[in-house]
Amino acid sequence: MISPRIHPSILNADFANLASELTRISSADAVHVDVMDNHFVPNLTIGLPVVKSLRAATELPMDIHLMIEDPDTWAPRYAELGCESVTFHAEAAQAPIRLARELRAQGSRSAMALKPATGIEPYLDMLGELDMLLLMTVEPGFGGQSFLDLILPKIRRARQAVDDLGGSIALQVDGGISTETIQRAAEAGADTFVAGSAVYSADDAASAIAELRRLAS
Ligand code: DX5
Ligand code: ZN
Repeated sequence: MISPRIHPSILNADFANLASELTRISSADAVHVDVMDNHFVPNLTIGLPVVKSLRAATELPMDIHLMIEDPDTWAPRYAELGCESVTFHAEAAQAPIRLARELRAQGSRSAMALKPATGIEPYLDMLGELDMLLLMTVEPGFGGQSFLDLILPKIRRARQAVDDLGGSIALQVDGGISTETIQRAAEAGADTFVAGSAVYSADDAASAIAELRRLAS
């Protein structure tokens, strides 16, 4: 199993000062960027031009979470920008296997996300096409929601499936991760943790990252 990784989400950052908000999280393992289109989720954030500028503004690996329709068209464009990891939603992809292969062919890590009510079972046979599986622990769309404990059994089943394949696929959770919840998610088998408000609402983001990492270990 991979040692715990903390990916702060800039959804909860000050969007008028994104470059300086990135410097607050320089001790993180990657920056998590939530791309929303107001169709797949009822919220709108940023797209390719802003991600391109962010890519040039930081050395941190970029973990792009696409909450958009038609990821088959758009996800490869984020890989082309040099984003290290691109996550599409299983519920939105027309051809998830083809898309995962395309992302890898462009040099990005391929990742797929599941909303809370989407089961992992239909996707077990394609896990080997992925570098990361993201299990949403809130309904996607907004920061600051409460962690859904009912996802813990799904995290455990996913951990078993990932281990059966040799354990090199990262298992990410996103939504409501805080000092209160990260241990439960880690015990269930998650190794990569998105934290938005828990990091960006803290006075000292570096300490918040260190504390989350310690609790997950
Ligand atoms: C929600 C986003 C999350 C969000 C997490 O749809 O995918 O990445 O920013 O925010 P918190 O950690 O506050 O739940
Ligand atoms: Zn996210």
